[in-house]
Amino acid sequence: MTTVGQAGLGYWGKNLVRNFDELAELRWLCDASPELRDQFAARHPAARVTDDFAEMVADPELEAVVIATPVPTHYTLAKQALEAGKHVFVEKPPAMKGAQMEELVELARARGLVLMPGHLLLYHPGVRKLKELVDSGDLGDVLCVYGNRQNLGKIRKDENALWSLGVHDLSVILYLVGEEPSEAVAHGNAFLTEGVEDVVFCYLRFPSGKIAHMHLSWLDPHKMRKLTVVGREKMAVFDDMELERKVTIYEKAPWEPAGTYGEWRTRTGDIFSPKIPTDEPLRLECEHFLRLVADGPGDHAEALDGLTVVRALDRLTESLRG
Ligand SMILES: NC(=O)c1ccc[n+]([C@@H]2O[C@H](COP(=O)([O-])OP(=O)(O)OC[C@H]3O[C@@H](n4cnc5c(N)ncnc54)[C@H](O)[C@@H]3O)[C@@H](O)[C@H]2O)c1
Repeated sequence: MTTVGQAGLGYWGKNLVRNFDELAELRWLCDASPELRDQFAARHPAARVTDDFAEMVADPELEAVVIATPVPTHYTLAKQALEAGKHVFVEKPPAMKGAQMEELVELARARGLVLMPGHLLLYHPGVRKLKELVDSGDLGDVLCVYGNRQNLGKIRKDENALWSLGVHDLSVILYLVGEEPSEAVAHGNAFLTEGVEDVVFCYLRFPSGKIAHMHLSWLDPHKMRKLTVVGREKMAVFDDMELERKVTIYEKAPWEPAGTYGEWRTRTGDIFSPKIPTDEPLRLECEHFLRLVADGPGDHAEALDGLTVVRALDRLTESLRG
């Protein structure tokens, strides 16, 4: 079994601990909070507990490190773990600057280590279904994709809506489109905390001509977790608020009947929902990381996807502030 050490045992970290405890040998638990260390030590008596990340990564028996600390610490901790020769799973985003993420990817490549960012939605069976629909050509040429990630709360003070919410949709949009954007524009405003945008609208354009949009906000009456893909032949929606109908496919499309001299009409057919497995995305994500550790990082696809996301976030931030 792979030996795992985890830093960050807070709100999200506890979900990772639960999974890695079942799937691997949880050897180390690390957190800055004495209360959390006590709590987790009692629950996991076989693990060693520390507040010192350097002590954890110095353990020669430790193979992999999981990082679920606050975003501003990710780059430094991931770098330290890679330099110590450990495979790294790091919550999203692994760095706050494209150049820092490039450095992490290079380090992982040079040492033959896994660097996997926690882009949870990429392991969601509903998102996998969307990807299958796009890649098989079932939707026809994809024209545009847009994401809605809105709610009232959780109001954050250290990360804006783009970095906190947008990273999820961005990872999926880039995964579906398979291109780096040629244009990235963001507008928004910080209504509650100076410098922390609560409402952000983003526009992306890709070299193929596809376009995308994201509405990200924690000041909204609707709780929405939705992605819409508009193809030439069909349209598909992934709605994570739905319990059963996670993906809906609409046989709706523009239609140019022969002999009408370029006149466009629309065609409306069936609407259906394919069965989507109910596997926990986090479980699938943790299993994927352990598989990479066992089999090797291959072409570092996960790390490179992470780099594309951080680069796009960087450009959107520049546009937002510019
Ligand atoms: N994938 C998802 O859907 C998802 C959801 C929520 C949060 N997250 C990510 O998880 C990460 C943690 O978020 P959270 O909401 O759990 O935060 P949190 O504040 O609840 O927990 C962070 C923990 O890290 C500890 N910590 C801080 N610096 C440390 C250090 N240098 N060494 C060891 N421990 C340290 C803190 O004491 C705290 O217990 C963030 O990167 C966030 O983006 C991901």
